[in-house]
Amino acid sequence: MRKKKNSPAPPREGLSRRDFLKGTSLAVSSGLLVAPEVAAAAPEHAAGVVGPEAAPITLRVNGQSQSLKVEPRVTLLDALRTQLNLTGAKKVCDRGVCGACTVIMDGRPVYACNVLAIEAEGHSIETIESLGSAENLHPVMAAFVDHDAQQCGFCTPGFVVACKAFLDKHPDPTQAEVEHGLGGNLCRCGTYAGIREAVLEAAKTLKGGRANG
Ligand code: FES
Ligand code: FES
Repeated sequence: MRKKKNSPAPPREGLSRRDFLKGTSLAVSSGLLVAPEVAAAAPEHAAGVVGPEAAPITLRVNGQSQSLKVEPRVTLLDALRTQLNLTGAKKVCDRGVCGACTVIMDGRPVYACNVLAIEAEGHSIETIESLGSAENLHPVMAAFVDHDAQQCGFCTPGFVVACKAFLDKHPDPTQAEVEHGLGGNLCRCGTYAGIREAVLEAAKTLKGGRANG
């Protein structure tokens, strides 16, 4: 059986890969798959014990409440992909390394494969599906196209979501800040140069929109 907690996932925005791994190793060594500063707040919100059988939960995904039944061991990523048919977040490493599964939880980018679905209850989750469509690309998506920032495309949804969350917090980033801020996502095809250019272009586009708005 597993204790049900309302503890969010590891925050990565603004962390380098090295920072993130250090935080994660600390958390894992204490039995918690959350960053230490988040774990400290968790016990106050501890609820009952659930499992091992499937339990009903409600997730707030892309602005909509979704009711589903999940075993406590099911990750947010698997719940999104297999129960809600939101397959934009990709399952690549399934162990919090590559960032292909990145979603935004309460405004922060998280690895959906590192969050249990039951832990996501009570939090606001945004997936790549909410950012735009083929007919109406989000500025980050459009910039990825303009700068050829993908090859196989498997890492791309995670990168786009991470970039969107990064630009929400850093609307006018430097190249160095972009490199640091996206350190939690990997591209095996090596499209990093295009991705960085895309982020800088998207920042300009969004800034124009904000100024005009
Ligand atoms: S699939 Fe989640 S970090 Fe790689
Ligand atoms: S485009 Fe292939 S892994 Fe990034």
